[in-house]
Parts: sequence; C-alpha cells; structure tokens
Amino acid sequence: MSTFYVTTPIYYVNDKPHIGHAYTTILADILARFHRAMGDDTFFLTGTDEHGQKVQKAAEARHLTPQEHCDDTVKRFQELWERLGISNDDFLRTTQERHKKVVRAILQDLYDRDLIYKREYKGHYCVPCERFFTDKDLLEGGLCPDCKRPTGEICETNYFFRMGQYRDFLVEYIQTHPGFILPDFRANETLGFLKKDLEDLCISRPKSRLSWGIELPFDPDYVCYVWFDALINYISAIGYRGGEEAKFAKYWAESLHLIGKDILTTHTVYWPTMLHAMNLPMPKHIFAHGWWLTGNAKMSKSAGNVVNPMDMIGKFGVDPFRYCLTAGMVPGQDASFTEESFILRYNTDLANDLGNMLSRVVKMAFKYFQGKVPPCGTLEEIDNELLSEAEKAVPAVREAVENIKLDKGLEAAMNVVRAANRYMEKTAPWTLAKKGETERLATVLYTAAESLRIVSALLLPVMPEKMKELRLSLGFAPEEAAKADYAALASSRLVSGTPMRDTPPLFPRILAEKGDAPCCRKGEAPAKKETPAAGKQEEKAAEENANVVTVEDFFRTELKTAEVLEAKKLENSDKLLLLKIKVGEEVREIVSGIAKHYTPEEMVGRTIVIVANLKPAKIRGVVSNGMLLAAKDGDTLKLVTIDGGSFKSGIPVG
Ligand code: ME8
Ligand code: MG
Repeated sequence: MSTFYVTTPIYYVNDKPHIGHAYTTILADILARFHRAMGDDTFFLTGTDEHGQKVQKAAEARHLTPQEHCDDTVKRFQELWERLGISNDDFLRTTQERHKKVVRAILQDLYDRDLIYKREYKGHYCVPCERFFTDKDLLEGGLCPDCKRPTGEICETNYFFRMGQYRDFLVEYIQTHPGFILPDFRANETLGFLKKDLEDLCISRPKSRLSWGIELPFDPDYVCYVWFDALINYISAIGYRGGEEAKFAKYWAESLHLIGKDILTTHTVYWPTMLHAMNLPMPKHIFAHGWWLTGNAKMSKSAGNVVNPMDMIGKFGVDPFRYCLTAGMVPGQDASFTEESFILRYNTDLANDLGNMLSRVVKMAFKYFQGKVPPCGTLEEIDNELLSEAEKAVPAVREAVENIKLDKGLEAAMNVVRAANRYMEKTAPWTLAKKGETERLATVLYTAAESLRIVSALLLPVMPEKMKELRLSLGFAPEEAAKADYAALASSRLVSGTPMRDTPPLFPRILAEKGDAPCCRKGEAPAKKETPAAGKQEEKAAEENANVVTVEDFFRTELKTAEVLEAKKLENSDKLLLLKIKVGEEVREIVSGIAKHYTPEEMVGRTIVIVANLKPAKIRGVVSNGMLLAAKDGDTLKLVTIDGGSFKSGIPVG
C-alpha cells in the first residue's frame, strides 16, 4: 500500500471563498478520493490562514477581536467545503494552539542555531500580499510586483531568517529533482527568480505595528510574519514536533502541495529553505495551477470580479459544478470562467452523453427484463471492443491522476461514455427488441451497463453523489454504490438478475436563461423533453436506417444566428481569426480558420450561423465558444450567412 498526502493552501480567512478557492480544494479532494480508491493510505489537509494585518484591520472595522472575527469568517470556508462534499481529514486553523506551539518551537530552534538574527530594515510593504519588497522588486510608481497595488515604506528593526545562504542548495535541488516543482515551466520560473541574489527573509513584525500573530518565543515585542507561520501548517498538522513523529515522517515523504501560481515563490523558495534549515526533507511535489479568469483578469476579491461557488452550486448542483470546474481547466494553465461554457459542458457531457446513456440502458432493462441486470450471453466482437475500451480507461485515468492531469482523466472516462452511445447506435437494441432477439438484446444491454459500471467507478471521486445514484440504478447495494475499489475494477462484473433502479434523469438538461430558448432550470419542469431515451421515434429511425437522424437528434445541435462585432487575426497564425460575436444577449469569442478567405474587416457586421452548443475548445490559448458554418470547395470557402437584412442575432436556425 502506498501513502499519499495532499494539501491545499490555507486560505485567508478574511476573504469570501470564490471559485478559485473551490477549484484548488476540489482538485485536492478528487486526488484524495482517487488515492483512497486505489487503496493508498491517504491524508488530505486544508485550513485557514488567520494571522496578519488584513485580519487585524477587518476585525477592528467590525469592532471584534481578531479571534472573534476569525471564528466567524472561518465558517464560510467550512460550510462551503461541507456543501461541496470535500473529504478533508483535517482542517487546520493557524490560531489553534497545536499549530502555534510548533511554530514557536521552530522559531526558537532556528534562533538558537543563529539561523534567525536581528537587524534594522528598510523596505516596502504590501498589505494585501503581506509581503516585503526591496526597491528593485517594485514596479514603476512603487507598485507591488504581485498585485500591482501601492506599497508602503517601512523602516524598523526586525528578525531575519538566513534564507540567502540556501540559494545554491535550492538551485541544485530543483535541477536534480524533476517533478519537485510542477508543471516543469514553474520550476524554470523559480530558477529564474533564483538567478538574482536571494536575500534573507524578514520573519517578524513589531507588535507596535501589528499585534495579531504568533509571539516570537525569544522576543515578546514581536510577532511572527504571517507567511512564516502559515507555511508551517503543512507539517504541524501531521504531527511534526507534536509527538507524532512517525505519522509525520510517513506522510511527509509522500507530500503534494497544490497551490495557485500566485503563491509560487513562497512555496518554492521560502518554504524549501525553511525546511532545509530545520533539517527536514523537501515536500515531494509542489504543483501550481493557473488562474480562473474573468475576461482577462484574475478572479479575486480585490478585483471585484468573483463568482460565488454557492451560486454555481444552486444553478448546477454540487457534482456537476465539481465536474465542470475540473474539466474546464488544464491544470497549470489559466482558464476563463463563463457560465455559458459551464452550461454547454453540462449539457454536452453530462445531460447528453452520460445521463442519456444511463437512461437508455435502465429504461430498456425495465421494459424487457423486469428491471433486472440482463443475462450476458456470448460476447461478440463489438461487445468486447466496448468492454476493452472501458477497461483501458482505468490505467489512463490512473495515469492522469498521478500526473495531476485531471482534465485528461475526465476526458478518458467520457470517451468511454461516448463510445457506449455509439455502441448503442450500432447494435440498435430497440431493433433487437422488435425482432424478438432477446438473448442478443440482453447481452447488448449487459455490455452497455458494464461499461457504465467502470465509468461510474472512475467518476466517483469527481461526482460522488451522482455516481452513487448511477450505481444504485445499475443494481449496486447502497454500501457499494458509494465506493470503488480500483484493484477489483476490471475483474468484478455486474451480476445478472440483480434488481436495478429506475430513476428520473440524472442530469436534466439546463436550457440557457437568456436568449430565445424557453427558460428552464435544473429541478424545474423542463420545457423540452430531456433525455430522448428509447422512445418511439428513436426506434423507428434505427429500424429504417442507422445513418438517419431524428428531428430530436438534429435539434441537439443548436444552430443560431450571430452578429460579428469584432474580428482580428490571432497572433502567430495566418489561418485563424478571433471573432467577437453577439448571440442574442450574449457576447462570446470564437476562433475560426477562415483568415485566408476573409479579412477581419470583411467579417465585422455580418450575420453568420454558428453551432451554439459546441463544447468550448481552447485554440492557441483562446477559448473558442462555438463554431461558424461554412462550405469549402477545394480552395474556396464561403460562409453561411444571413446577411443583407436586419436579422437579429441569437435566432435559432433549423
Ligand atoms: O494566498 N484561480 O491565501 P488566499 C485559481 N493564505 N485559484 C485561485 C484563484 C483564482 N482566480 N484565486 C485564489 C493565500 N485561488 C495564503 C496561502 S498557504 C501556506 C498560505 C486559490 O486565500 C489558489 O489555490 O489568497 C491560490 O493559490 C489560493 O486560492 C490563494 O488563497
Ligand atoms: Mg490571495
């Protein structure tokens, strides 16, 4: 059995949690759940960072003590994690005595060994970042290099940690340990930072200026710098210097810090040098993901552009929100958040692909096999193909988890679902039913259900509640529905004859709130029939010709008119145009390979036709949200347009 220790940053207790915080925590949760399912001894830590100037100021403004203020605001995080089904094993608050005593012990030890010393200091301080900067760090106008807000000048006597002397050690460590800082380009970024001289780190604040912190054990006039205190949470929580050295050693050797790229330097420079000074090994991995952006700006409280996770949960439900967040970002790169792209992803992956597949199987099992897992007869090639595709997804997902490429893992699982839907089209069980080929029908439904069993296990860590529901429908006993044992995944099979459970659609379609489609939210009565299960029309179409689509099928593709507002060539490409288009009330961007046929100027003002519910795709770093229609004959390309009149955008085409 292996061991796995995963941490999130401890979030500033002051801030309201937004989807950026939710993202890191959900990522950690999914990894922890995967590792538990792989049989690993897993420990998952999150918590809150409660000291520092920002908290002191906020408490003063509310006429509360800082501790009262923290006790109140910490609930926002704890309640959100509970709502999101976060399975953390511990929640550390830096104001807890178990943490403070470890920080004091470390400070005293470093001071006794002359690794902390006192000197006068002149510098610039950024309150929001709680960090000191030297003259050369600052941007023009004295702005903070990180958050670009004004800094204040400070001159005072402080304590310093001899960080500078570890520069060579750290450079060599990073160079000889690929995988220590991930993705690789973040390791290069850290090495770039270390090219400059590394200064000693100011680790104290005089109480006259800031009293809300951990008092230095060797000087009661000072408190500890909030970052020095905060980073230690990763080891104080698992028993370092807390009488649990064995537990500490076990988990620390297998540690993974998940962070956002905003706190790279503190984690890849401050923290490793602190650990080295303490004679402790480095964390195994530090993984910095990118930012959720609104437009082109980082989503943050101070920018005032945050999306509240509770609102999103209200719209999508917990599990689809977890899914869409995870699938929507390539870990390491930035991603733009739009509600429309979440709706699209939900409808495409969850409502159409996964939900539809489940209801097809369950409906037919109820119609033809008394609601029981059908008997499995002789498997044909096409059946084995689907099963082996599903089984191949298991190592693919495992690899994605091990390399923290969860978006890829989800893709591997969803590819099985798509293959299963294609399998249904090809084997046409509704036709088999009509022809009375019951044995073959049973085998086809069994095979389809089996592929769902494997997918549901792979997606359990991502959507624990929904996959539990799905597994109950497949006939799992309640205690087994909620957990997956990956070691037995390929060998265990659904047992024919087990009663299944008929369910309402697992992922009812969400229709866009704006524009002309009838408005319908999850949970409310849908205006359109959602999952076109094994209905009459589908059976008929399949009977007549497998290549013919039904009207319902056709309208799953939403074609709409769109007005081109702006157009420009995409940098470094002679083929691609970036279009800003208006679709009813909504403005979105699409990238299109038409630059050789249309100039940007020719595009502006046109009314084109787009596929409005195409899964968003990242093209050259830009999220393309839809696709325009064009016809190509050899080298000639012509757009499908509705030019020449005052036709509105957002009108359905069909
Ligand atoms: O920095 N996109 O806490 P914090 C993606 N207390 N992730 C985001 C994000 C965004 N727009 N905004 C925030 C602190 N995050 C310190 C950490 S650790 C010893 C101390 C996530 O509340 C991301 O994980 O500012 C980022 O690193 C973290 O929240 C910062 O949280
Ligand atoms: Mg921050």
